[in-house]
Amino acid sequence: MSKAPLGFFDSGVGGTSVWSEVITLLPNENSIYLADSKNAPYGPKGKDRIIELSIKNTELLLEKGCKLIAVPCNTATTNAIDILREMYNVPFIGIEPAIKPAALATKTNAVGVLATKGTLTSALFHKTSSLHASGIKVIERVGEGLVPLVEAGKINDKETIELLEKYTEPMLQANIDYLVLGCSHYPYLIEPLRKILPDHITIIDSGEAVARQVQAVLAEHGLLNDSSKAGVHHFYTNTTTDTLKQLLPEQKNISYLDF
Ligand code: SIN
Repeated sequence: MSKAPLGFFDSGVGGTSVWSEVITLLPNENSIYLADSKNAPYGPKGKDRIIELSIKNTELLLEKGCKLIAVPCNTATTNAIDILREMYNVPFIGIEPAIKPAALATKTNAVGVLATKGTLTSALFHKTSSLHASGIKVIERVGEGLVPLVEAGKINDKETIELLEKYTEPMLQANIDYLVLGCSHYPYLIEPLRKILPDHITIIDSGEAVARQVQAVLAEHGLLNDSSKAGVHHFYTNTTTDTLKQLLPEQKNISYLDF
């Protein structure tokens, strides 16, 4: 049993969508969340830079005593998690586009994946896709420009809707029935996506699955917090705190940190 916090790092505010799922499932856990918004987006960066940033964030979370590190950023997971696992002796939980459940469930034999360039070009994504979605038409689109819009809190703005229309248009042409969101920021775009997409298209993100995995790994390592009190959460951003405050209005400990 351990009262040490869970650590989360993301290329910005997007991973709070995953953080919310984890804390809904494990309300007694304490947590520390690093929003590396200064370096967002990670998606267009090269692998070496993504690894460098992931190491910097991990070290800060370890200095703060985290017992497990969750990496809600798909780009950081697909490019850096193997290296992090080799370097540090704490459990890491990554997140990947949920292509497997979509491929298993599709009736039209076509699924869409909206993710960053860094994720879609990663070896891990290719491996997962060819393992679980061979024989399925997978329409991949890089959601260029979406992360900065979510970082700016522009969730329902005209420019966001126009980009979403542009990226989902070829998926609609291909008659997808599942859309996989492969970026920590995109769950915040479900509301505008629902206005654009026909009702029969199911949108999948990986947040709930990650929460169940965090729970399982904590249990396996004897690290669950047995406190009966609600956890305490600290959010740090290296840019403005405005968007975190907009997305998490009930959270008190949101502060600037120079990292
Ligand atoms: C990004 O920083 O480009 C997006 C984060 C992600 O891949 O989940």
